[in-house]
Amino acid sequence: MRVLIINGSARGAKGVTAKLAGALAQGLTQGGAQVETLYVKDLNIAPCMACLSCMHLNPGHCVQRDDMDVVVPLLKQADILVWAAPVYTDTMSAQLKAVMDRCICSMQPFLFADALGFTRHPMAWDMPKRVMLVSTCSFPEPATFDSLVATVRAQAVNFGGQCLAELCVPGSLAIQMEPSVLEPHLALITQAGLEVAQGGRVRPGTLTAIKRPPMSVDRFRELAGRYEEWCRKQQAKVAEKRREKS
Ligand SMILES: Cc1cc2nc3c(=O)[nH]c(=O)nc-3n(C[C@H](O)[C@H](O)[C@H](O)COP(=O)(O)O)c2cc1C
Repeated sequence: MRVLIINGSARGAKGVTAKLAGALAQGLTQGGAQVETLYVKDLNIAPCMACLSCMHLNPGHCVQRDDMDVVVPLLKQADILVWAAPVYTDTMSAQLKAVMDRCICSMQPFLFADALGFTRHPMAWDMPKRVMLVSTCSFPEPATFDSLVATVRAQAVNFGGQCLAELCVPGSLAIQMEPSVLEPHLALITQAGLEVAQGGRVRPGTLTAIKRPPMSVDRFRELAGRYEEWCRKQQAKVAEKRREKS
């Protein structure tokens, strides 16, 4: 089983998303999967130009030459695609959305109605049929993931597949103040990876445990208070330097 993880954090390997994706990769690898991780931050990927050359003139091939030339062959080989997508303004980062949009070069221009009567494009080449989402967001409310989850689920179906699981851990602002609060979730996400590699799905019990936020809202507010204190000190330092210069 080949798994491609595409990490859309602007902080790449330094972010909380990378920790979650790393835990998933660990479990998948333990279960025998071959895992490759791409950091969009390190790639040069332009937005879709909507020329639709990939549909109308040269089916399956994007007219733009950039690092999608690295991503597309890996997508073609992968059995599972993992979007490692931190929440940016209630959805995925623009960098990652550019990758998702550019994947329309996998589609033909023709139309058909699926089993539910929903209009779809047939594929020029197959995107991975199984998709997963790994995400984090600053705030503690799980509802913060709703728009992102809806987008990833819809795209999985548009690309002829389905979303296996969404592993979303809120509260990254507080997690970064006390990284140890993430440890139980990292272990659970590793377990989820192992289950996917061995049985093709995350067991409901594991999923339920992952869905429980890593801390209460009260604990979040306590740790967020520490963060605010740190911010104030940073701002005071900058203001002091400005005063010295003037
Ligand atoms: C441009 C931008 C927009 C963001 N919007 C949200 C948001 O709408 N809700 C939220 O809870 N966090 C938001 N965040 C916070 C990120 O989700 C959070 O910092 C997360 O840890 C980023 O992932 P990373 O640690 O892998 O870099 C935003 C961050 C950035 C940079």
